[in-house]
Amino acid sequence: MTQVQPLAGQVALVTGAGQGVGEAIAGRLAAAGADLALVDRREDTVRRVADRIAAETGRQVRPYACDVTDRDGLGVVVKDASALTGRLDVLVNNAGKWTSGAFVDSSPADWHEQLEINFLAVLHLSQLVLPGMLEAGYGRIVNIISDSARVGEPGVAVYAAAKAAVAGFSRVLAKEVGRRGVTVNCVSLSTTVTPGAHDTFSEEQLAKMPRLYPVGRLGRPDDAAAAVTYFASPDAEWVTGQTLSVNGGYATL
Ligand SMILES: NC(=O)c1ccc[n+]([C@@H]2O[C@H](COP(=O)([O-])OP(=O)(O)OC[C@H]3O[C@@H](n4cnc5c(N)ncnc54)[C@H](O)[C@@H]3O)[C@@H](O)[C@H]2O)c1
Repeated sequence: MTQVQPLAGQVALVTGAGQGVGEAIAGRLAAAGADLALVDRREDTVRRVADRIAAETGRQVRPYACDVTDRDGLGVVVKDASALTGRLDVLVNNAGKWTSGAFVDSSPADWHEQLEINFLAVLHLSQLVLPGMLEAGYGRIVNIISDSARVGEPGVAVYAAAKAAVAGFSRVLAKEVGRRGVTVNCVSLSTTVTPGAHDTFSEEQLAKMPRLYPVGRLGRPDDAAAAVTYFASPDAEWVTGQTLSVNGGYATL
């Protein structure tokens, strides 16, 4: 059977691609035909993921060891990655970080760190790739956010606020660039089993969580990747400014 490759000939940049959700997104986009630029602050993991996906799919996959808060570094990455075809067609802002703790005990330094990674990096990278997308008259930006912003999970106040900011930014940007062929959407996740989730929750906590979810299990990275791949595809041309919760039914409004 011939595989459908809606992203053939396109280049996608995925941040936080060294593990977890970002790794799954990278795999799905490559399977859909895209060449990849993978960004992670950890060189060992992003290189391992890039080598594996290139071997499995035959796509060109370039790993970049770069922190998304390093603006100069991101500029170099975008320039180098655009050289593959002259532009980037898809940007997935997936890199994110959450720390748990009561807001009353948090410091301005914590707030700034959360906002830099989860919000300001999204603005910066979007501004770096947008000129090429607008010139080409085509682009897909997909931002990974969190249902903690909708539901209000205790312990992640600033993280949730940063993710809500990304949702608001995405809705406005979608309207600014819609007529130029660029769509901007969000995929909002609830607990998804990744190395990051294992760092946050004990095995005992994770084992108890599935009963909170109508679907009866926690999320898998591939659940998120499937939704991202839809928004990233040419088929999603008439879908912009939207947020799709991939959450096992945890929040339904
Ligand atoms: N896993 C969940 O339960 C869950 C729930 C809601 C939202 N999310 C969101 O999904 C996204 C992916 O989460 P995950 O669970 O796969 O996380 P993870 O911690 O397992 O993986 C995150 C990856 O991003 C990289 N990264 C982190 N900070 C970076 C930075 N400043 N610059 C470059 N790379 C950086 C890490 O090295 C790692 O490879 C995040 O945006 C997260 O907020 C996850």
